[in-house]
Amino acid sequence: MVLFGGTGDLVTRKLLPALYRRQAAGQIPEDSRIYGVARSGLSRDTYVAQAEAACREFLGAEFDAAHWQAFARVLDYIQLDAAAAADFGKLAAALAGRESLVRVFFFSTASDLFATICGNLARAGVVTPNSRVVLEKPLGHDTASAEAINAQVGAVFTERQIYRIDHYLGKEAVQNLMALRFGNALFEPLWRRGLIKHVQITVAEELGVERRGHFYDKTGALRDMVQNHLLQLLCIMAMEPPATSDPDAVRDEKLKVLRALRPIRDADVLAKTVRGQYKAGAVRGAPVPGYLNEADIAADSATETFVALKVEIDSWRWAGVPFYLRTGKRLQDRLTELVVTFDEVPHPIFERPATSQTANELVIRLQPDECITLTILAKNPGEGMRLKPVSLALDLGETFKTRSLDAYERLLMDTVKGNLTLFMRRDELDAAWRWIDPIIAGWEKYDDRPKIYIAGSWGPAASSALLGRDGFAWHDEV
Ligand code: BG6
Repeated sequence: MVLFGGTGDLVTRKLLPALYRRQAAGQIPEDSRIYGVARSGLSRDTYVAQAEAACREFLGAEFDAAHWQAFARVLDYIQLDAAAAADFGKLAAALAGRESLVRVFFFSTASDLFATICGNLARAGVVTPNSRVVLEKPLGHDTASAEAINAQVGAVFTERQIYRIDHYLGKEAVQNLMALRFGNALFEPLWRRGLIKHVQITVAEELGVERRGHFYDKTGALRDMVQNHLLQLLCIMAMEPPATSDPDAVRDEKLKVLRALRPIRDADVLAKTVRGQYKAGAVRGAPVPGYLNEADIAADSATETFVALKVEIDSWRWAGVPFYLRTGKRLQDRLTELVVTFDEVPHPIFERPATSQTANELVIRLQPDECITLTILAKNPGEGMRLKPVSLALDLGETFKTRSLDAYERLLMDTVKGNLTLFMRRDELDAAWRWIDPIIAGWEKYDDRPKIYIAGSWGPAASSALLGRDGFAWHDEV
């Protein structure tokens, strides 16, 4: 496994701890090699020492010195400038004689380097039939740039060798969503227009832009989160049951959802999208600076750190059922939650409940804890038939009492095993960008500047109004 961007944030914070855990689980044979590759002139020992410090920090009490020794034996470092073809000779020398083994090239660099690295790998003759390439998001910044990268990577690797990562697909909780929908007969008959009123998908973060200001200011929440994570969650919620769990059967159904998304273009952006940007405030009582005062952010930046959207799917199953999506940084809670609100009974025969919540609701919380809650209306004890919403709640963490795999643990092992199910296919990525592009064009055309929200809130007031206009409210506002 060759990790480009080997000294970067993702490799040190996520990939190396994930690989260490798989090693501790006995999944990494002793004769494997993991090469960190980067420009810095580090010795192998310094790199291993840095990796150890990162793993100790991120794994805490889980870190075990004996396992580390075994893991360190497979770890190595190669100093290499991704743009310098001659440097790839060092990689070729390191990999020589191991042609029959699986090779995974993981690109954890800016996506504008992907084509160059692919070209240099090919010229160095290290791409074998057993090789795979893993591409970190974001892949490009619009349809055209993503197409160009896909074409250039596609000139060196076949589509079955290309693993486009969306780490949300590797989360245990997201896989559970598939289990809930396609492992149970209970929900499927209800999962459609006429029985579901609306669906909400929230991915809220307490964190700000951390040390990624430079990247984030060019990217914004729509490209960073919606184009990939939220659209993938939407696909899993909305897709038709695939015929099998094979990668292409699943990806074909997700693609149909992406292609059925009603475009949001021109003046529609003003009615169906809300952009926000945080100003100084407090998260969990601790004061935090505003976005414009974060490091590496332009003083007059109009980048959105929050976005809410009303999404419609033009299909028989979903016509007329709005899906409301929102995501943002520096919100009140770290929370990933999907809420399905069912229709009310067609003819109420009891007194109306003394609450605004008069319909059944299925709340699937993916983060920070994994819970599924179904709200039903029950009779309030006492005289008369007064109804009250009560919850059937399933805490999956409590139920299974076992540590879930981190998304990268699963995804990295899937690349080695050659399982593409949890990775985005080229046409999916393309369809997602084609839906995103007109929104960005609309924002530019109407100079839709982000609405300011206070850090630690649930975003700008316009986000509540987006649902309010349809007679609905975000789940946390009910
Ligand atoms: C990444 C985004 O893809 O996902 C980050 O680039 C974001 O901005 C992160 O913070 C959220 O992931 P998670 O797993 O913490 O929900």
